[in-house]
Amino acid sequence: MVDSGNALTIASSQKELTFHAIWLRDNSQDPETRSPTNGQRLISLSDIPENISINSASIENNTLKVTFSPEEKTIFYELDWLEKNSYENFKPTQKGWLSSIYKTWDSNLEVIPLEDFNDLQKNKRTLNDWIGGVLKFGFGKITNGPVQSGALFEIVDLFGYVRETNYGRHFEVRTEVNPSNLAYTGLGLQAHTDNPYRDPVPTLQILYCLENSAEGGENMVVDGFSAIQKLKDENLEFFNVLSDYCAKFEYSGEKGVKLSTRKPIIELAPDGELIGIRFNNRSLSAVTDVPFGKMQTWYAAYRRLAEIIDDQRMQVTFKLEPGESFIVDNTRVLHARKGYSGKGSRWLQGCYADKDSLKSIFYSSEDAQT
Ligand code: FE2
Repeated sequence: MVDSGNALTIASSQKELTFHAIWLRDNSQDPETRSPTNGQRLISLSDIPENISINSASIENNTLKVTFSPEEKTIFYELDWLEKNSYENFKPTQKGWLSSIYKTWDSNLEVIPLEDFNDLQKNKRTLNDWIGGVLKFGFGKITNGPVQSGALFEIVDLFGYVRETNYGRHFEVRTEVNPSNLAYTGLGLQAHTDNPYRDPVPTLQILYCLENSAEGGENMVVDGFSAIQKLKDENLEFFNVLSDYCAKFEYSGEKGVKLSTRKPIIELAPDGELIGIRFNNRSLSAVTDVPFGKMQTWYAAYRRLAEIIDDQRMQVTFKLEPGESFIVDNTRVLHARKGYSGKGSRWLQGCYADKDSLKSIFYSSEDAQT
């Protein structure tokens, strides 16, 4: 017991762990506090006395028994659960730290998460391994899918739901005579994240190839987190200015549509974790929310980040055959298309989805395996 019952320390298998009384009480697993069926909390914080403290505590058979006062309530905690949920060693290191679930990469990436469409549909384990790879690297490829309009929805059906936008449930990517959006022409596109003007931004994009006989038109991906780490290593001031101040992104290419959002190019969580990149030169609006004295530095930083992204050493390139598709984490991995010629045809369909359902599949099946 420490701090007059406000906390307690237990000796777990590896180390000593300390928990606050209020944390333990709020995280009680008894059926009056947590629903035994769905695990949801049944009480609110105001149901816990403000002066909650630990009256007594003991350990028996890998279970911690705690009696709280003034409630005189006794709660049991599995030591394994406490070990798994210990928080005293959480120390955010420095701005820009990355969760250990990610593995950053550049053009030297040897193995990309690639799987056969039919195997993904038939085999849950294969699907889970592939999703694990997509979460780790921020992108993945699927081969051998049906060469059929709308087949991209079958990719989304593997894990979640389409995120519909004003572009529709899906969008077509092919040459048009009067393009309202540069994605529909034969020009090459700089690597970018999609739709940074949306709030929230679509967190996954799927691009599905139906025809690709035109010359060129390869797809290319860049790990935005890797590019940001490189920028930070080179020039901390550049990293700071792009994460401290908001850019502005806009799209109003159609009648009745005016999408606008104010977000930084490099997005950090309040504890400094690197959680996102927004990079799209076509939809960057007039940036007005950078202090006057920092604007030149902001532009120098943005230019340098663009150079890093455009560097071939950061890029992984592949050509999609009809029936092949790829998925990107649109908060992390930038995608691009090389220019293609008018000969032959190139037809892709794209749609958006969200990462929460992808993660849900992965983590729920991980639980199922343990
Ligand atoms: Fe795009």
